[in-house]
Amino acid sequence: MTHTIGVIPGDGTGPEVVGEALKVLDAVRRVEGFDVELVRFDLGGERFLRTGESLPDEELALLRQMDAILLGAVGHPDVRPGILERDLLLRVRFELDQYVNLRPIVRYPGVQTLVPSHGEDDVNMVVVRENSEGLYSGAGGFHRRGTAHEVAVQESINTRHGVERIVRFAFGVATKRRQKLTLVHKTNVLTFAGDLYQRVFNEVATEFLNVETDYVHVDACCIYFLDQPSRFDVIVTDNMFGDIITDLGAMIQGGMGIAAGGNINPDGVSMFEPIGGTAPDHIGKGTINPLAAIGARREHRRRPDRGVGSSNASLRERAGRSLSSRSSMRSHACRYRPRGW
Ligand code: IPM
Ligand code: MN
Repeated sequence: MTHTIGVIPGDGTGPEVVGEALKVLDAVRRVEGFDVELVRFDLGGERFLRTGESLPDEELALLRQMDAILLGAVGHPDVRPGILERDLLLRVRFELDQYVNLRPIVRYPGVQTLVPSHGEDDVNMVVVRENSEGLYSGAGGFHRRGTAHEVAVQESINTRHGVERIVRFAFGVATKRRQKLTLVHKTNVLTFAGDLYQRVFNEVATEFLNVETDYVHVDACCIYFLDQPSRFDVIVTDNMFGDIITDLGAMIQGGMGIAAGGNINPDGVSMFEPIGGTAPDHIGKGTINPLAAIGARREHRRRPDRGVGSSNASLRERAGRSLSSRSSMRSHACRYRPRGW
C-alpha cells in the first residue's frame, strides 16, 4: 500500500524541519513496512516573488489528490503580510475544507517549559480549533480608506453548520480521551457568535452523556493554561481564539519548536504542519527544533480523533484512483525521493 504525501517545504526554516520529518518518515516506513510516494510542491514566498503565483488552480487540484500534505511554513520578509497567508495557507485550508485544526498540547519527557510549577503530566490536552470560518472568513471591508473618517470592518462569520460540525468533532475526540470537553469562547461579550456556540454545544452534549462538559471564557482560559492546565482534556473553540490560545499552549508544552498541528478534513485530504512559522532568525543555522515537524508527521499517522495507529481506507482507495492523473504533473510539483531513501 502506498501513501502519497504532498510536501510543501515552503519558506524560512520550513525546508529544514521538513527534511528532518521526512527522515523520520523514512525510518518509520521501513519499520512498519508501508510505501510512501512524495510529491513536492514548490509553493511559498520564493515562488511568489519569482512568478507572482501563490497557489495556481492546477496545483490545488493536485493537492486534492494526495493522501495527506506535510507543510513546513509559509511567509517571506519581502512579501506583504496577508498575501501568502490568505492565498496559500488559508486557501488550502478552506478549499480542501479542512475544517478542524487539531492541536495537541502535550509535554515530551525531559522537555523544560517556562512554567516550572507544571509537572510533566499536568499538560496533556487537545485544542479543537474551528478552521473554516469566524474572523478568518475574510468578510468585511474598508470605507473611506486612508481618510480621517476611515471605517474598517472585519466580520466574524459563524454558521450553524460550521459550529455544529466542529463541536461534534470535538465531542468525538473527547470520547476517545479523558471524556471532558471545554467550550472556550467569550460569550459575555460576543453575544451572537458565543450564543450560537453555547447553544450548539449544549444540544450536542445531550448525545454524548459520557462526556463531562465545561465552559471557560477565553481570557480565563489563558490564566488556567498557566495556573491549572490539568483542568483541560479537550477544548473546542472558534478560529481566532484557537489561533491565540494554541501559541500559549505551545509555550506550556516546551516552545514553538515542539508544537504540531493538523488541518483535518475527516472525509478528505488533511494537511499537517509545525505551528511555529518560518523562524527567519534560525534559517540555515541548524538551530531550529525539528520536533514540531516530526510531530506533525506523526499526527498524520496517529490522529487523536481516530485512535492510535488507525488508517483511512477511503483515502488509500482514492490514492489508487489518482495515480493515472498524476502523469499530468507540472514541473513545480514533482515526485521525488529525498537522499538516502
Ligand atoms: C497558525 C498561523 C496562521 C493562522 C497564519 C499564518 C495565517 O498563525 O497556523 O496558527 O492564523 O492560522
Ligand atoms: Mn497561529
